[in-house]
Amino acid sequence: MDNVIKINNEGEHAYDIIFSDSFKLLKSELMKFNIENKRICIVTDSNVASIYANEVKSLVDMVCKHCYVVQFPAGELSKRHETVNKIYDVLVKKKFDRKDILIALGGGVVGDITGFVAATYMRGIDYIQVPTTLLSQVDSSIGGKTGIDYKDHKNIIGAFKMPKLVYINLNTLKTLPEREFNAGMGEVIKYGLIMADDFYQYLNQNIAKIKSHDLETLSNVVYMCCRLKKIIVEDDPYEKNVRKILNFGHTFGHAIEKCKGFEYLHGECVSLGIVAAAYISYKIKQIDSNTFNSVKNTLASYGLPIAVSGIRPNDILREILNDKKMHSGYITFIVLKRIGKVNFYKVNFNNMTDNEKDLLINAIESITIEQ
Ligand code: NAD
Ligand code: GLY
Repeated sequence: MDNVIKINNEGEHAYDIIFSDSFKLLKSELMKFNIENKRICIVTDSNVASIYANEVKSLVDMVCKHCYVVQFPAGELSKRHETVNKIYDVLVKKKFDRKDILIALGGGVVGDITGFVAATYMRGIDYIQVPTTLLSQVDSSIGGKTGIDYKDHKNIIGAFKMPKLVYINLNTLKTLPEREFNAGMGEVIKYGLIMADDFYQYLNQNIAKIKSHDLETLSNVVYMCCRLKKIIVEDDPYEKNVRKILNFGHTFGHAIEKCKGFEYLHGECVSLGIVAAAYISYKIKQIDSNTFNSVKNTLASYGLPIAVSGIRPNDILREILNDKKMHSGYITFIVLKRIGKVNFYKVNFNNMTDNEKDLLINAIESITIEQ
């Protein structure tokens, strides 16, 4: 395994993903940006701050003009304008200008907010991703999707803004709560299902090692996901076509997240969404029942939910109709053609056949448990 993956954007080198087992290399990586005269603001959340902020700040302090830390309460409910305003307040007060840099130290919530602030403050300043959850290391820190939630709508305000660097310290996963680790596996398994059957087999053959956080196996997993994401974001950085396949499981997943009032983690909802999408794939005869069961077993082996109670199928369907991916009455579901390959399944909601409606309701019923 190399310790760097280079990401291009529209044919030109845009940023590196660095893999390390500590924060030590961060200092030399930052020095490549000539930061001795720059201000740095580390954005983090309350949990990550208490474990890693001091260590990272002391490294950054050594090489920049001034380093500040701003933190907000951990969790999805912070992914809102109020948090963005709090960060703007610090940047304005400390007189940050366009040559200064933000560092996102934390999971996907920190990364999405920091990226959004970087995209909008002074019409754009640079930012660096230092992801500390499995989900953010394999997915959200790469590819420049940034954003926040608004009222009931998830990720509805946002911008594309590529980071200048993604720095992955794999050892941060050691402090990650097990439930959060498992949620990250939802996105990891997604890559195998949509793009790489050999990687999916690897995940099935190494369950014990991955769950026990064996560093070598985990490094392979994170590295492989980043390689797969590189292929997609270089081909389609602004989600015009092929990048949509990364939303596999997310149409159902986002609807469940909302119906459950964000009680379930993003990766857990993706797991449920993957089961519903695999159910459709099975019913439209793209995959057989063995493959459908294998998908469920793999998710369950990693402690992920494959069914949920306390939500009515019709409520999930209603949320799907409100989903931002619905354009002019059409919604496109990503379905499996086989393990490692996907197809698009398009439904016209203004003119849905009884068969289509039954299929969607049955898919939702396949993941909902009556109480
Ligand atoms: P998160 O950022 O909320 O982190 C999960 C929890 O783990 C938090 O409580 C956090 O404080 C804690 N934590 C983080 N790192 C830790 C560590 N090393 N040790 C101990 N605790 C740690 O959640 P997440 O799962 O990383 O990200 C989910 C978010 O990412 C969602 O908002 C989702 O919409 C977004 N997302 C964005 C993209 C994208 O492309 N931008 C892709 C996927 C998901
Ligand atoms: N996580 C989906 C994407 O980056 O497109």
